[in-house]
Amino acid sequence: MTQNAVITGWGKCLPPAILTNEHLASFLDTSGDWITSRTGIEERRITHKNISDLSAVAGKHALAAAGLEASELDAIYVATSSGDTLIPNTAARVQNKLGIRGCAAVDVNAACSGFIYALTQVAAQIKAGMMEKALVIGADRLTYYVDWTKRNVAILFGDGAGAVVVEATDDNAGFQFSHLGCDSDGLGILGVDKMGTNVPRYHDHPGAFEVPFEGQEIYMNAIAEMKRSSLEVMKKSGWHKDDIDLFIAHQANIRIVDALTKHLKLPADKVFINIEKYGNMSAATVPVALCEALEAGRVNAGDNIILTAFGAGLTYGACSLKWGSRTTPVAISSAELAPGPTDALSLLKEDIKRSYQERHQPIPDALK
Ligand SMILES: CC(C)(COP(=O)(O)OP(=O)(O)OC[C@H]1O[C@@H](n2cnc3c(N)ncnc32)[C@H](O)[C@@H]1OP(=O)(O)O)[C@@H](O)C(=O)NCCC(=O)NCCS
Repeated sequence: MTQNAVITGWGKCLPPAILTNEHLASFLDTSGDWITSRTGIEERRITHKNISDLSAVAGKHALAAAGLEASELDAIYVATSSGDTLIPNTAARVQNKLGIRGCAAVDVNAACSGFIYALTQVAAQIKAGMMEKALVIGADRLTYYVDWTKRNVAILFGDGAGAVVVEATDDNAGFQFSHLGCDSDGLGILGVDKMGTNVPRYHDHPGAFEVPFEGQEIYMNAIAEMKRSSLEVMKKSGWHKDDIDLFIAHQANIRIVDALTKHLKLPADKVFINIEKYGNMSAATVPVALCEALEAGRVNAGDNIILTAFGAGLTYGACSLKWGSRTTPVAISSAELAPGPTDALSLLKEDIKRSYQERHQPIPDALK
């Protein structure tokens, strides 16, 4: 009998340091009003720890919520494009931080779409009977790549991690369908150049990353591809718009989410938004939003849920889920990040100054 794959646990980890729009306006030619009205973002988190640390904390919360021991896992998947190291992968580090050995450890890099890609791979393996229990984490620290002199990019990103536990079930619930894609014609409109083996080995690294970023192009493609993917999984699932109970889209810009849900004719009360608190956390946005939707009582047993995302590549995807019977955690974990600063500007000050120096621009007074 084909088994289904259902989410049984959920967790998140947001670092304590908060970078507000006012912080950004102190060294960039921008204003809080511009950022809020054009993006919906009011503040974002900046991490003082590595992606494996954030992932392990989110993972421990998800495991407790599922009532599962880490030792029962068959696999750990980490969706990230800002892992601690390429070799070993971040999932291996997370396994180590969970204090277990043996389960498969996989990193998935599909930029902001990574969590949808990883969840699809895990659900497909569980449905095929190839494994029973997995931890799927979306975690990113794109602020590491940011050029702090660029006002159209520096305002958008934040750091964080979200996680879910996925388990095999015989119930008629769980993962339904997925649609994944990539339009590589858009390779050049978003990315981090000079970060990989394409950089000559003995080349002097310039320090600041080159970050091609064509905001308008990304914006238009994000709406078109998330709409197409969402409609595709709705069709495969046999769902009409009225059948959807909760819609969670990648939180890159409130205007993208508003335009997308308008195209799909979804009412606002079915759409979950938390971009104001965190900005674009890349692969972490969807699992953190799902976790917060559960905490806010927005998920009920048997609900039909669509998750969709879009990112560099240009990758995109959507998946449909029928929620299981439990919407409250089995247990609560006390896991938390090692203490760190809450003042994001002091945490980032030296990096921001270096961005200005390397671009041969005067260092703003607020940073002196
Ligand atoms: C980046 C983004 C917010 C810019 O908003 P926009 O409405 O498209 O703005 P534009 O790029 O057309 O720029 C309009 C003007 O605002 C200015 N501007 C850009 N950022 C600004 C800022 N932070 N503060 C003030 N002005 C700003 C531009 O310089 C431009 O000025 P000009 O007309 O004098 O040249 C928007 O394109 C976006 O969200 N794109 C998607 C980005 C994203 O999340 N990518 C990751 C996907 S996973």
